[in-house]
Amino acid sequence: MERRLITAALPYINNIPHLGHIVGSHLPADIFARYCRLKGYDVLFVGGSDENGTPSELAAESLGIEIEVFLDKMYQEHKRIYEWFCISYDNFSRTSREIHHKTTQEFFKKVYENGFITRGKLKTFYCEKDKRFLPDRYVEGTCPKCGYEHANADQCEKCTALLDAEHLLNPRCKICGGTPVIKESEHLFLRLDKLSDRLEKWLKQNKHWRPQVTNLALGWIREGLKPRCITRDLKHGVRVPIEGFEDKVFYVWFDAPIGYISSTKEKSKDWEKYWKDKKTKIYHFLGKDNIPFHTIFWPAMLMANGEFNLPYQVVGLQYLNYEGGKFSKSQKRGVFCEKLPESGIDADVMRAYLTFLIPEIADTEFKWSDFQARINSDIIGNYGNFVNRVLSFIYCKLGNNIERPKESELTRSDKEFIRVIKEKVERIGDLLESIQLRNAFREILALATAGNKYFNENEPWHLIKKDIKRANNVLYLCANLCRTLSIVSEPYLPNTAQKIWKQLNLEGSVNEPGIWDSAAEIALPETHSVNKPSILFHKLTDARIEELKKTVSDAKELKSYFE
Ligand code: MF3
Ligand code: ZN
Repeated sequence: MERRLITAALPYINNIPHLGHIVGSHLPADIFARYCRLKGYDVLFVGGSDENGTPSELAAESLGIEIEVFLDKMYQEHKRIYEWFCISYDNFSRTSREIHHKTTQEFFKKVYENGFITRGKLKTFYCEKDKRFLPDRYVEGTCPKCGYEHANADQCEKCTALLDAEHLLNPRCKICGGTPVIKESEHLFLRLDKLSDRLEKWLKQNKHWRPQVTNLALGWIREGLKPRCITRDLKHGVRVPIEGFEDKVFYVWFDAPIGYISSTKEKSKDWEKYWKDKKTKIYHFLGKDNIPFHTIFWPAMLMANGEFNLPYQVVGLQYLNYEGGKFSKSQKRGVFCEKLPESGIDADVMRAYLTFLIPEIADTEFKWSDFQARINSDIIGNYGNFVNRVLSFIYCKLGNNIERPKESELTRSDKEFIRVIKEKVERIGDLLESIQLRNAFREILALATAGNKYFNENEPWHLIKKDIKRANNVLYLCANLCRTLSIVSEPYLPNTAQKIWKQLNLEGSVNEPGIWDSAAEIALPETHSVNKPSILFHKLTDARIEELKKTVSDAKELKSYFE
């Protein structure tokens, strides 16, 4: 049986996630994981919070609270938000846990023994005013590669280039605004240079990757890989198990991806089959700025360690913008996730719109007018309406009884309808296999369109007056399509899919492992009645949109969580 380990990038928890984080990793990973479970694959979907490094330390400090209190609360809040979105993590762990620290240290020891670590001097920023070494994300300066003025010390967010602190132009300390000085101390480095050829060969072998992702990675290799520092002069993080390094911790980007392994370990005694059995495929979902770490740095760590599988697929997503600009908490521009539960909005409605916006190829944009239009027309007017009109017709006009038509009774139009469904379901499966999540969703909606068309063309409201048998046959096939829709839309709209299943009065649940392969079949019982139908969604009026916008764009102050 096919086995798949699916991960979403571990979010930093010094802040509350906004929609960009949801659409850039958790949601696409969840859609894919749900699909894989319906296919009956052996699936594990893991993630967790990225808690080490100074960002959390500084955030706690500025709020005047203990770091542990801060981390516990933020972890709970992240978890609550992903649960609201129905992100079906099998385990959502924390990199502050013992198991993660141990796993990281063991991972490192192996890399060390294998000869992929060297000692060297590293120049990092030190702020004499704040009397501390500055974490990479607390120094801002101009990118030497593209000229972007708000690059961090280790990476430019604009061009995604990985940087060395000493090359950052015009550096500024983000805590006090002053100019930090460069200090040198002894650190450990991962020998990326030694792994360059293997990485290149491996990248070129991965023909199933998106060309943008492969090309970015090959570009960095062409520029030449140098040993990369994996330790930092900080307090908070995973200790380095080497003499002379007692005062240092691992660089967050060394420990964080190992979180995928520790989260798996924490969940399952059988964890090794997900990481060591060569037949397991590992899928990582992550945002654009994480691409170099998942295509170069992390695979290099895995090669240096030698015990684990390399990623099978790296799904690098682009960014989500908001109404023609960036999300901004202070300017109240955006959709802030902590407000969603109280807004009363249906999580599936949010998931549906976000699916249209998954930035698979290029950056995308959240727009309220577009949100309203798409939900009202595609989700409610087309998909929701089809299910509701079919079930209501059966319930009210056919005495709540339908019977399977005999093969010989099927008309040309019925056969064509059945064929179209088969063809579309197959196509949806193919698109999901290649992780084209938006296109697959479009095909699902096209399936509802085909249902509405068939319903309209057959005019069952006339048929019940003159040919009740024929009305039965049409509605049976339509109800069967409702079952199909319930299954194929489950990865996207899990609550709605379950509701449709219940209203259809089918046994068990739509989440049955392996159910996918029966999606296109005529699978309703020979004779069947449905449950009392109720509408699946409420139309989004202008007033409702205004109200929602007001609620969710007003982010909660971080300090209010600790009052
Ligand atoms: N915390 C990082 C971010 O939010 C992602 C870490 S992904 C992992 O950008 F690979 F390290 F886990
Ligand atoms: Zn740059």
